[in-house]
Amino acid sequence: MQEFVDLGRQPTANGFLLPEEVDREFFFRLAVGVCELCTMVQLLEEVPQDLRYHGSYRYHASGSASHREHFAANARRFMATELTGADPFIVEIGCNDGVMLSTIAAAGVRHLGVEPSANVAELARAKGVTVLSEFFDQATATAIRAEHGPADVIFGANTICHIAHIGSVFQGIDALLGPNGVFIFEEPYLGTIVEGNAFDQIYDEHVFYFSVTSVQAMAEHFGFDLVNAEHIAMHGGEIRYTLARKGARKPAAAVNELLADELTRNLSEPETFAQFGRNVERIRHDLLAVLNKIKSDGKTVVGYGAPGKSSTVTNYCGIGTDLVPFVCDSTPAKQGHLVPGSHLPVRPPTAFADPYPDYALLFAWNHAEEIMAKEQAFRDAGGEWILFVPEVRVL
Ligand code: SAM
Ligand code: TMP
Repeated sequence: MQEFVDLGRQPTANGFLLPEEVDREFFFRLAVGVCELCTMVQLLEEVPQDLRYHGSYRYHASGSASHREHFAANARRFMATELTGADPFIVEIGCNDGVMLSTIAAAGVRHLGVEPSANVAELARAKGVTVLSEFFDQATATAIRAEHGPADVIFGANTICHIAHIGSVFQGIDALLGPNGVFIFEEPYLGTIVEGNAFDQIYDEHVFYFSVTSVQAMAEHFGFDLVNAEHIAMHGGEIRYTLARKGARKPAAAVNELLADELTRNLSEPETFAQFGRNVERIRHDLLAVLNKIKSDGKTVVGYGAPGKSSTVTNYCGIGTDLVPFVCDSTPAKQGHLVPGSHLPVRPPTAFADPYPDYALLFAWNHAEEIMAKEQAFRDAGGEWILFVPEVRVL
């Protein structure tokens, strides 16, 4: 494994905490490397999964309108294309608050969500979704197969790259997937992260950073074919991978096209990763320069959005309340808590206009369009947005 970026001592990125909990906070070294043999990019230090996923997990997938629309469209697509036989069955790994499966449940299609974080699993159940509150692995999958029979679709979004025991996941897919079933997963794309300098996508939950090249190698290693790969616009740029049992389906032309494209772009080359490491250092330097200037000019700045990404940026750059006094976020479960590590207080969006600051540091930059449209009054009042990916800009 060749290390190429070290983002320092970091907490768990969704470990939003109360002021009285700060002395018990967990930290680890957040560094990423690439495997010279299979090209898989991954964290060098792993955080135990029960520290990341538990009964107070704070990421709620239904928090944004674009996510709700995306996953409802996915559900409709699965029902129109894959769930067309007699009594079809779909399993979602990491169904969270039921953002996708609620549409499937409403249509009366047989389904099961596998979701270890009990609080979000409960939110899914309240939407009529059937949920098994466990970690997906070989044992869970074998038990599901015994009880429900084979799955036509096994789906995961922003979840498969979170699971360090990936070998056991694939053994589970092998146990559960029907002979002509598909394993579909949508995950942040290494190309988007590396070429877009999106270093804030790197945090404890993102154990793997998939590319078409590394996913194909992984699929083959575990006895599956990569039969499709499609760019999708979620989280700033992801890829939806479709895997099938060996020889069961003809791969789409897109697979070879995207593999060739990654080769042309040198996506697995050491120099690409080394350049990324240098770019990340430059962003830290430039962002601190902007924030320090705002402070010395006596102007005000507030953070906007407290995604897991905001933990990586604030902790790597050393941004504390002296530079950004608080962050606004629409997730009720984050409000009243502190951003992990940097301890910026999280307040409801109403705090943003009370009064408007001079600048807003947009941590949730992947929702820029939705947020900037919603907060047009901030712009009208003379406010400016600070973005830091792919480079620091004030708009
Ligand atoms: N699928 C939703 C989406 O795309 O917005 C939620 C993604 S969330 C970032 C990752 C989810 O995966 C969490 O709800 C977490 O509890 C769940 N998860 C983590 N490890 C898992 C595992 N081994 N099996 C099933 N779910 C898991
Ligand atoms: P995500 O990028 O992981 O979806 O997280 C986005 C975060 O930004 C999440 O905590 C919710 C927050 N957010 C707002 O506060 N206001 C908004 O309008 C949107 C879209 C997101």
